[in-house]
Amino acid sequence: MSLIDQIDKTKVPQHIAIIMDGNGRWAKQQGENRIYGHYEGVNSVRDVVEGAGQSGVKFITLYAFSTENWNRPKEEVDALMELLVSTISMETEKLHKKNVRLQAIGNLNSLPPACLAELNESIDLTSKNTGLTLVLALSYSSKWEIINAIKQIAVDVKNGKIESEDISEENIDHYLCTKDIPDPELMIRTSGEHRISNFLLWQLAYAEFYFTETLWPDFRKEDLFTAILNYQNRERRFGKTSEQLTQPSE
Ligand code: IPE
Ligand code: IPE
Ligand code: MG
Repeated sequence: MSLIDQIDKTKVPQHIAIIMDGNGRWAKQQGENRIYGHYEGVNSVRDVVEGAGQSGVKFITLYAFSTENWNRPKEEVDALMELLVSTISMETEKLHKKNVRLQAIGNLNSLPPACLAELNESIDLTSKNTGLTLVLALSYSSKWEIINAIKQIAVDVKNGKIESEDISEENIDHYLCTKDIPDPELMIRTSGEHRISNFLLWQLAYAEFYFTETLWPDFRKEDLFTAILNYQNRERRFGKTSEQLTQPSE
């Protein structure tokens, strides 16, 4: 039976978040420069987005560029921004035809204007689509997002829009970039690194983590299906005991 057929369609995570890591190392292994690895990584994005749609996932968030990535050599940052513009302009029509809705989270105003314009155009064009939602995390860091949320909450408390006593989990959700997006049930990181690198710290509070040695340019939809199958074999207890989950409550 193929991997996708083994997936229990009633237990597919609604939202998968991916830290796409290892492009630079992949390129080095091929004797090429890091930027070549980023270009090759686009093929993985295309395949994984298709696989996500096929498996019934509703939201997929891809960590494409972190706040910390601005500290990379200028040549690499410029190449990544150019790649972003060219990929979005090349892929939007296809995504639109497949009913995919594009969204973005992060400090988008820090992106080069051409990049932001291209991104906004695609977001607008696909905004009414009802299939998979593809969320790109760009110039994103979770601490930046949380600081921003706290600042906005402080302003709203000061203006009397909300009472400090009313601050709640749901309330905080509302102030984050991900306000209309359910929390990811599954987080995948490629390339053998076991860290979160400032990604969705709040939203991943109860996510299952899946780490693979595979470098991002080698990652394909079959690897995504393998991760989903692995997720489906886990028991998510949310603080309860295993017995509570398996025995009907009185
Ligand atoms: C992930 O691959 C892509 C981005 C962070 C933009 P890396 O560029 O981090 O690749 P490695 O980790 O150096 O191999
Ligand atoms: C995390 O990868 C960011 C993205 C995948 C966009 P990095 O390669 O930048 O993270 P660190 O430096 O290994 O933590
Ligand atoms: Mg890396």
